[in-house]
Amino acid sequence: MSQVHVINHPMIQHKLTIMRKKTTGSKDFRQLLDEIAMLMGYEVTRDLPLKDVEIETPICKTIGKEISGRKLAIVPILRAGIGLMGGLQTLVPVAKVGHIGLYRDETTHNPVVYYCKLPFDIQSRLVIVTDPMLATGGSACDAISMLKEKGCDNIRLMCLVGAPEGIRRVQEAHPDVDIYLASIDECLNENAYIVPGLGDAGDRIFGTK
Ligand code: PRP
Ligand code: URA
Repeated sequence: MSQVHVINHPMIQHKLTIMRKKTTGSKDFRQLLDEIAMLMGYEVTRDLPLKDVEIETPICKTIGKEISGRKLAIVPILRAGIGLMGGLQTLVPVAKVGHIGLYRDETTHNPVVYYCKLPFDIQSRLVIVTDPMLATGGSACDAISMLKEKGCDNIRLMCLVGAPEGIRRVQEAHPDVDIYLASIDECLNENAYIVPGLGDAGDRIFGTK
């Protein structure tokens, strides 16, 4: 079974509380999400392997550490996953980026695919899928399945807020995918929105409502 990592660093929790407030506008919401993404990125990449490399400082030769192993790819689920991309790119500027476009049907709450563009060598990379909201888990599950169909076998899911239902669904469908979150919230409401959550992440990021 995959691991669920709840990253409860005080800086992340403080910023998340501001994001949850309905009075927080798009500009602040976006900036806070960007900051949280970078902070969460430390944990998502905490176990990346290192190798010794010989370097020369102005003083002498020495052995330094360099990240080894697979190169990274960041795959935001459109639209809202874009909000977590910049912070991760600040941390890993050489990561390639793929995009998966999914929206939830308003009645069934099932995801509908409308876009997929991935790096040509995605299957050889460690893939970090980003989406701030893990509600029913349908979108994350479908995005991960699409990546697996392309041959990806090393995938992590980075969200901001998750509902227990969505976390369970991803764990059952993709037991090899670790999930990173800043909060596990209480439940879903009748419209499959996360409670207490923060509302519609895409609308709040892009100011569409
Ligand atoms: C939101 C969110 C996730 C999805 C989560 O996207 O960004 O992708 O819902 O819900 P689920 O876990 O029940 O699938 P939405 O469909 O609203 O699209 P948007 O990002 O384009 O607004
Ligand atoms: N998508 C969102 O943006 N928010 C939720 O609470 C659930 C799905």
